Amino acid sequence: MKKVHMGAAPLLYPMPVMLVGTTIEGRPNFMNAAWGGIANQTPPMLTVAVRESRLTMKGLRANMAFSVNIPSSSLVVEADYCGLVSGAKEDKTSACGFTIFFGNQSNAPLIAECPLNLECRLDRFIELGTHTLVLGEIMETHVSESCVTDGLPDPVKMDPLIYISGVAKSYARLGEIVAPAFSAGLRIKKG
Ligand SMILES: Cc1cc2nc3c(=O)[nH]c(=O)nc-3n(C[C@H](O)[C@H](O)[C@H](O)COP(=O)(O)O)c2cc1C
Repeated sequence: MKKVHMGAAPLLYPMPVMLVGTTIEGRPNFMNAAWGGIANQTPPMLTVAVRESRLTMKGLRANMAFSVNIPSSSLVVEADYCGLVSGAKEDKTSACGFTIFFGNQSNAPLIAECPLNLECRLDRFIELGTHTLVLGEIMETHVSESCVTDGLPDPVKMDPLIYISGVAKSYARLGEIVAPAFSAGLRIKKG
């Protein structure tokens, strides 16, 4: 198969849309972040790559706590706005009309309208270059009741917003389920 070389580029598809919540001078602030993901199972950990210039970084460093809120596709306008405007310029929480609640950490604001909220304790910063990798331990997970099926989180019901970079540079939603995981491959497994 003929390939086109693109150079060294951070390409991975799709990317999550995360609204990273921090408290800055007593005010909740949310930033759109697509560069991040799950990092560890026990303890449960995730990462977010944040530029030092973001106001969010101020809140992360001050509180050593943050939240990750996963918006559903119906929140696309609010999510994009949180990626276009800095909390240094506008009060994004009231502009979006978000309902804020707190779990165990008083400095990690959570968005009620998002179907999935992860409360994180900030474990460490890893300075990499343009971005600082923020490693957080997930302390509690909140799932909207309407997105739980048989006691388990149901991502299809959550309808999480997805970011696709590259030529499309767009938001998308989950597609069709194509096969069951941990069993589709059994057809070619030997023994
Ligand atoms: C789709 C999308 C994804 C983004 N992903 C990141 C990211 O992973 N890391 C980052 O530092 N900025 C990212 N940004 C930019 C920030 O969200 C943006 O600069 C925001 O205004 C920062 O807000 P704050 O200054 O209130 O922290 C993204 C923006 C968009 C629209």
